Amino acid sequence: MTQRTLVLIKPDAVRRGLVGNVLSRFEAKGLTIVAMEHRHIDAAQAEAHYAEHVERDFYPPLRTFVTSGPLVALVLEGDEAIEVVRLVNGATDGRKAAPGTIRGDLSLSNRENLVHGSDSPESAEREIALWFPSLD
Ligand code: CMP
Repeated sequence: MTQRTLVLIKPDAVRRGLVGNVLSRFEAKGLTIVAMEHRHIDAAQAEAHYAEHVERDFYPPLRTFVTSGPLVALVLEGDEAIEVVRLVNGATDGRKAAPGTIRGDLSLSNRENLVHGSDSPESAEREIALWFPSLD
């Protein structure tokens, strides 16, 4: 089934010059970019995006990180795109993510893990509406 999912290429990836590398992997996999924007978000947008994590111990440093510089937000479309993006991204902790995945190849951190992908159809719908409210 064709799905859309929200991806963030996080500030660590932008700082490290890895945006092209990350985008290439999604495109090579066969996913289509249907929206994309370079943004430097504030704390309110971070809180809206990570609403389910705001009470967690790791949230304050996560907020500092995601607001620390520009990121690239995009919507990807393709067959089973939500699960496919999560497989391409790899496990949350870059130290444990499998080689061949974005995090497994390029991250050594649980926080600065380069990318975000929606974790369910419900999250994808909410996150796409939050980041790209005018996308049909
Ligand atoms: P993401 O897929 O964007 O979803 C929540 C984010 O919180 C996650 O990627 C990491 O950047 C961060 N995160 C999750 N768990 C931890 C943790 N235990 N310690 C630090 N950061 C975390």
